[in-house]
Amino acid sequence: MTRRAAITGYPVTHSRSPLVHGYWLKLHGIDGTYERMGVPPESAEAFYRDFAASGLVGCNVTVPNKEIAARVCDDLDEAAKAMGAANTLWLDGAGRLCGANTDGIGFLGNLDQMAPGWDENPGAALVLGAGGASRAIVWALLSRGITPVYIANRTEQKAKDLAARFEGDSKALSWDNIGTMLENVSLLVNTTSLGMEGQPPLEIDLDPLPTDALVTDIVYAPLETPLLAAARARGNKVVDGLGMLLHQAVPGFERWFGVKPRVTEELRRLVLADLGIAP
Ligand code: ATR
Repeated sequence: MTRRAAITGYPVTHSRSPLVHGYWLKLHGIDGTYERMGVPPESAEAFYRDFAASGLVGCNVTVPNKEIAARVCDDLDEAAKAMGAANTLWLDGAGRLCGANTDGIGFLGNLDQMAPGWDENPGAALVLGAGGASRAIVWALLSRGITPVYIANRTEQKAKDLAARFEGDSKALSWDNIGTMLENVSLLVNTTSLGMEGQPPLEIDLDPLPTDALVTDIVYAPLETPLLAAARARGNKVVDGLGMLLHQAVPGFERWFGVKPRVTEELRRLVLADLGIAP
């Protein structure tokens, strides 16, 4: 029987998930489909609660439904619990609705693939931004044993609120103090929208940053953001944000279709071409 999975949310028209899962289904010769299903927030609770009725074996959840999905799940993994948001759902053998949040796993998977050994002698990390993506990344870094994790955000209170969720393992920093903290960090992560096409660049002076620090950006359009270009030019290792998007899809595919897929160069090229981004 054909196994069906889908991206659910509202809207889902721009999601690249069907392309990614479609590539893996074809590559592995699996009798399965991955569809787009628009689920408006008003009907989200009923949809996820009565999940089996939709004929899906599982689904991804995107905005604005991730928090609603987490609420209706019978079981959540540690990340989804910490986030209060789920992006990957499935039914277990007893028919219980299970949810995971794979954004943090995607972030770590990308660094593991592109900068192997990055976590072997970790120093402090500095995460710029305090939105939803930052929350997943701070959680992921702490779960990997990286400490301390500093969070700097334009609106400082949001950095403080986020740091408070992690009880002492992460610390908030004012945006003006980024420069003085840089010399102490071995990992710099941009989770703000600065540097994205159509947005102003993230302008920070990287001079104090050790040249063996790793710099990564969750923005992937353009693939090399001004931050990554500046870091690379001074000798830092850099990792772009596309891999996070691809790696966060791995756990769902494995769960629904029984094969752990790989993030290959071919898949990266396929998604870049679809996004119209120069490799
Ligand atoms: P996401 O879910 O992708 O993290 P978000 O929740 O909208 O998106 O968060 C966007 C982040 O980019 C926030 O940290 C935001 O800072 P504020 O909390 O101060 O709004 C940050 N950001 C957006 N524009 C910015 C700018 N011009 N300068 C600095 N930070 C900016």
